[in-house]
Amino acid sequence: MTATDNQETMGIDPYEKNWIRFAVTLLVVFMAAVTVAGFALGYQVPNKEARVDPTEIVNEGPFATPGVRQIGDNQFEAYIVARQFVFDPNTITLPAGATIDIYVTSPDLQHGFKITDTNVNMQIVPGQVSKLTYTFDQVGEYPVICHEYCGLGHAAMAGTVLVVAPGEFEGGSE
Ligand code: CUA
Repeated sequence: MTATDNQETMGIDPYEKNWIRFAVTLLVVFMAAVTVAGFALGYQVPNKEARVDPTEIVNEGPFATPGVRQIGDNQFEAYIVARQFVFDPNTITLPAGATIDIYVTSPDLQHGFKITDTNVNMQIVPGQVSKLTYTFDQVGEYPVICHEYCGLGHAAMAGTVLVVAPGEFEGGSE
């Protein structure tokens, strides 16, 4: 066996080499995309905050009285029940600059909870509490949508976060 023979049998076909390069490039691109989303764009994943009995949330715990509560100077928390086909409370009013911990759960089936123009985007699963925190710096109206098909009324399942100037702020939720 000569050196030339050896190269022919052991070497990688140029065509295959290009595909390997392509696959490695894709991995690098995907890794960069995840890194940029996570650190530069503030992509956040809701954690499994707590487990609840979906049949009992209307009777006990903070979801029995859903709404927004002020817990500090500019700190708020919201307990929101997502069910066919409403969010309860449906409208959340906050002063600009407020930081809010948002807890959402469902008593019936899966829903979505996405606040437009923010990085708040959660999957709402019965029996599980999803939580994300967000600071609303800009005055405005932020539509909230359910992005998980949940039945005939799914398309109409929407709410609002209303962020007003701090001087105009009077209360939490409707
Ligand atoms: Cu709730 Cu779609």
